[in-house]
Amino acid sequence: MKVLFVCLGNICRSPTAEAVLKDLVAQRGLDGLVEVDSAGTGDWHIGEPPDPRATEAAARNGIELEGVARQVRPADITEFDLIVAMDSSNHADLLAMADGDREHIVLLRDLAGDQASDVPDPYFGGEDGFDEVLEIIRTNCDVLLDRVEADLGKQGEVA
Ligand code: 4NP
Repeated sequence: MKVLFVCLGNICRSPTAEAVLKDLVAQRGLDGLVEVDSAGTGDWHIGEPPDPRATEAAARNGIELEGVARQVRPADITEFDLIVAMDSSNHADLLAMADGDREHIVLLRDLAGDQASDVPDPYFGGEDGFDEVLEIIRTNCDVLLDRVEADLGKQGEVA
C-alpha cells in the first residue's frame, strides 16, 4: 500500500504528515506493508529541505523530518494507492490532474471523519501554527492508519 501526502509547497504540512505516518507505521509493526511519500502541487520549493519551523515542531515531538521537496507528477496519480490532500485547494488541484479513477484522492480530515476539512497552511503564520498542524496531522493520521490497516486486512483475506 503506497500513500502520498500532498500540500502546496511540500515543506511544511506534507513532509510532517509523511514523517508522522512513517512513525505510526513503525509503531504498529507495519514496516514494508505501508510506503509513505509526500509532494507539493507548487514548484517554488523543489529541492529544498522542510521548513525549519516544521522540523523543530516535529523534533519537539520526537519525530524527524526527512527528504527534499518535489512536485506532484502525473505518474503519482496512478502509482499511489491513496493520495491524501492537506486542504481542499490541494484536493481540487489533484482531482484536476486525474483523468481516470479519483476515488483514491482524498482530504486528510474527511478521511479521518474530522469536523473541519482543511489542515491550515502554517507557512505565513507563527511557530504556534506548526505545533497546531502537527497535532491535527497526528490525530488524523492515527485514524487514517486504522483505515489502511482495515483495508490491508481485507486484501489479506482475499489473497
Ligand atoms: P506547505 O506550506 O504547503 O504546508 O508546504 C507552504 C509552503 C510554501 C508556500 C505556501 C505554503 N509558499 O507560498 O511558498
